[in-house]
Amino acid sequence: MCGIVGYVGHREACEFLLDGLRRLEYRGYDSAGVAITDQAGDVSICKTAGRIERLASALASSPLQGSIGIGHTRWATHGPPTEGNAHPHIGGERVVTICHNGVIENFQELKARLETEGYVFQSATDTEVIAHLITDCLEKESSESKVSDSVAPYASLVTAVKAALSQLRGTYGLVVMFRDHPGVIIAARLGSPLVLGIGDDEHFVASDASPLAGYTDKIVYLSDHQVAVITADSVRVTHRDHGEVRHSVENLQVDATDVDLAGYPHYMLKEIFEQPESIKNAMRGRLCEDDATAMFGGLNLTPQQLGSVNRIILTACGTSWHAALLGEYLIEEFARIPVEVEYASELRYRNPPVDPGTLVFAISQSGETADTLGAIREMKRKGHRTLAICNTVGSSIAQEADGGIYLHAGPEIGVASTKAYTSQCMVLSLLALYFGRMRHLSFDAGMRIINEFHALPSKVRAALQTDEESKRIAAKYSGANNFLYLGRQYNFPTALEGALKLKEISYIHAEGYPAAEMKHGPIALVDEATPSVFIVPQGFVYEKVLANIEEVKARGGPVIAIVEHGDTRVAALADDVISVPSVAEFVQPIVSAIPLQLLSYHIALMRGCDIDKPRNLAKSVTVE
Ligand code: G6P
Repeated sequence: MCGIVGYVGHREACEFLLDGLRRLEYRGYDSAGVAITDQAGDVSICKTAGRIERLASALASSPLQGSIGIGHTRWATHGPPTEGNAHPHIGGERVVTICHNGVIENFQELKARLETEGYVFQSATDTEVIAHLITDCLEKESSESKVSDSVAPYASLVTAVKAALSQLRGTYGLVVMFRDHPGVIIAARLGSPLVLGIGDDEHFVASDASPLAGYTDKIVYLSDHQVAVITADSVRVTHRDHGEVRHSVENLQVDATDVDLAGYPHYMLKEIFEQPESIKNAMRGRLCEDDATAMFGGLNLTPQQLGSVNRIILTACGTSWHAALLGEYLIEEFARIPVEVEYASELRYRNPPVDPGTLVFAISQSGETADTLGAIREMKRKGHRTLAICNTVGSSIAQEADGGIYLHAGPEIGVASTKAYTSQCMVLSLLALYFGRMRHLSFDAGMRIINEFHALPSKVRAALQTDEESKRIAAKYSGANNFLYLGRQYNFPTALEGALKLKEISYIHAEGYPAAEMKHGPIALVDEATPSVFIVPQGFVYEKVLANIEEVKARGGPVIAIVEHGDTRVAALADDVISVPSVAEFVQPIVSAIPLQLLSYHIALMRGCDIDKPRNLAKSVTVE
């Protein structure tokens, strides 16, 4: 939610800032801006409402030159998405220029105080408070300072920034430039991610690693409460309340080609078609035929601790919550461990009983979702062991958890999650096997499951061939205003996820329901204009779902069915059928998700929607 970039070095800052903002645009895209310090030390700002491309056009007609700068792409929280509310914001008489991601909860009281001191606010944002507050602290610091900057470079700036930060309540990822010190950027984080890129005589700051790909492969993940002082030739990291901290430089795992469109018209389509590979990567090195089980390197739990697990909580938001729901079905089936699936936003403020045998998994593509982070912190506080299932390496949730499992799906940029969802389902399937084999699941049963896993990438590849059929069906129904998505057992989560995909990118009202539960309300919506999408693979509830299809048909509702190859019974009943390869029931949700993603994609495209940047959404929701 909001993307931040910063650059200090020898090249034109604007080049990296714009490039980086384009890669971070998934985090927010209602307005954008950059500030650049030129050789004379003057700061110029360019801001526009709307997408990055509007900013790029504005900068093309009035270029900003200089080799130090900061930039921002916004997802509005305080104040509408106007040019005036876009970042960067300035403090005092252009003393500081800042970009901020996060929410300052006490901004009203700080603003009232600063206004009485004569500061004039230009925007409706909470961010502007930080800018004036730093200015205020700088002015107080310069009148009181006893520390010479020649002893510790920029000591007075750091002291002032820290003094301002300590008055804030809320979250921030922050970059600050200073009118009177044009060679330095200060970056700070609390609850909103920031990474530093280390180059040769140049340094980069960004909300995540994707802007750095192609610029440097050396990265520093800032932790909460850290404040970094960045110049062209040095990086110093200190703790907000203590002294200097040693920072470790890690290797960047993102390639520039991972973050471009590779010839696809949209990231979402690219990511849908990457799924045979991403699913393979989720299980790479994690299947152990010798013991007919799965293995994970980073759980950081002893066999005794794992053996004593008697309850699992899976917590997440959005699409990740749907994957968690599938995880519940699988873990309970394979391992007979009771599982609860909790919305992170609810869990963090509930007070469930603590049991030492409870293991908590937070599932998050980005690893930055504020509610999921809040939930995991709350669970840790209560003494639970917490593990993360994340895609983004080094993300806040990955850092916060006691251990975890990475998806290795590669960067997911389309706001509607696709490959991360199927990778989450894959990892949870592996986890179910792992816990199952530690309990009652036989070697033979474990091997049968492993064989199904091995076959999955090629089945997913075959499911991608439903693209043309999905397009044809999309054309037939793209004018509908309501959809129902119905499935049972393992495919109840698939129905929820199918409905969410459609809602997110086409703005069509869609509800996912357990197919039989439909009778208790949603069936009232069924009419000739409301298509029902049934997920109806072979399996032990097949006949039951067939009966549910009959119920919809009897009321005149059109039926689109996702079936297994060769199914003639559903074909005789449904108006339209998309057939996918046959696989074992427990991996069918992964295969069935593919045509649902494609259907949503084509419907949204036909309705002229902005596929990768749907209105009002952001990929990474770092506010509550
Ligand atoms: C946002 C995104 C969704 C995503 C959810 C959880 O709402 O738009 O696509 O599923 O956040 O994100 P996470 O990164 O925690 O999986």
